Amino acid sequence: MTVNELIDQAQALTAAALEAVAQASTSDDLENVRIRYLGKQGGVSLLMKSMGQLPEADRRSFGQVVNAAKKQVQDAWDARRASLGAGAAPRPKNQIDVTLPGIRREVGRHHPLMQTMEEVKSVLRGMGFRYDDYTEVEDEKYNFDYLNTPSWHTSRDSHDSFYTEQGHVLRTHTSAFQVRAMQAIGKPPIRAMTSGRCYRRDEIDATHFPIFHQLDVIAIDRDICFADLKYTLYRMLTTLLGADIKLRFRPSYFPFTTPSAEVDVYYRGRWMELLGSGMMRPEVLRNGGLDPAEWRGFAFGMGIERITMARLNITDIRLLYDNEAAFLKQF
Ligand code: DAH
Repeated sequence: MTVNELIDQAQALTAAALEAVAQASTSDDLENVRIRYLGKQGGVSLLMKSMGQLPEADRRSFGQVVNAAKKQVQDAWDARRASLGAGAAPRPKNQIDVTLPGIRREVGRHHPLMQTMEEVKSVLRGMGFRYDDYTEVEDEKYNFDYLNTPSWHTSRDSHDSFYTEQGHVLRTHTSAFQVRAMQAIGKPPIRAMTSGRCYRRDEIDATHFPIFHQLDVIAIDRDICFADLKYTLYRMLTTLLGADIKLRFRPSYFPFTTPSAEVDVYYRGRWMELLGSGMMRPEVLRNGGLDPAEWRGFAFGMGIERITMARLNITDIRLLYDNEAAFLKQF
């Protein structure tokens, strides 16, 4: 190549390098431009090397051209870097731009059923009840037999319960935890609760769903009496539903308590059936390894769906299981 051809090349390269510097909009871009034009293998260095092909006489003038080009590109590059602020630490990724306009983000939250459940649990925790999860796939013994529900009892009819192929039952109520808790905890005083999913073969309609949620509570000590049950329920329900509710204890029957009471609550102008309760039967205490001559207990169990629906004015249980974001967002 002649010296003139090489000078043309140097000018073209300079123009291209200046253009690239001007286009660089980030310090990464700018670093790439530096490598491409000013680096060891860059365009300017290659031109410098091609000087060796020139006759002795042309080398000096070509060298001046290349040095001038190099300086021009380097100056432009330095100026660009200063204007990009690249002398400072590189801008961290994911940095929040506080100058952007405020945008309301989608925020997740607990399902309304879980909100109720957590609230009830925290009231009872405050009263000294411990919380533990218990199995949903239950042994029939714990779900029925130990709760004084003999095998001929209608609630054991296969129409009411789901069974696994291995002969386990999906718990039909959280009361299944009662004997397990006594066995696990041992010597009273016992104040224990659990909550979670229960399963029954119900036709789905506005108030029934084959999966539902319950909370079950037991308190066992030497001198537990029905008044303790009432007090606990008043504390729990006034915290949950407000101080102006009324409670009504209706004599009832459950195989595992005696006496038994169903509890209705007067809330927002109407009576509502809310939960089952009673004094634990001697058979149940005995199944839990406790001597009924020495220990007494109360128990109660409450559905989570109904109280949630009452509080939130939801009239169809299916809405709680559709998982429609538009519905759930309201709570
Ligand atoms: N397990 C009962 C049900 O599902 C509710 C219940 C009644 C629970 C009385 C209790 C109790 O702990 O003492 O209908």
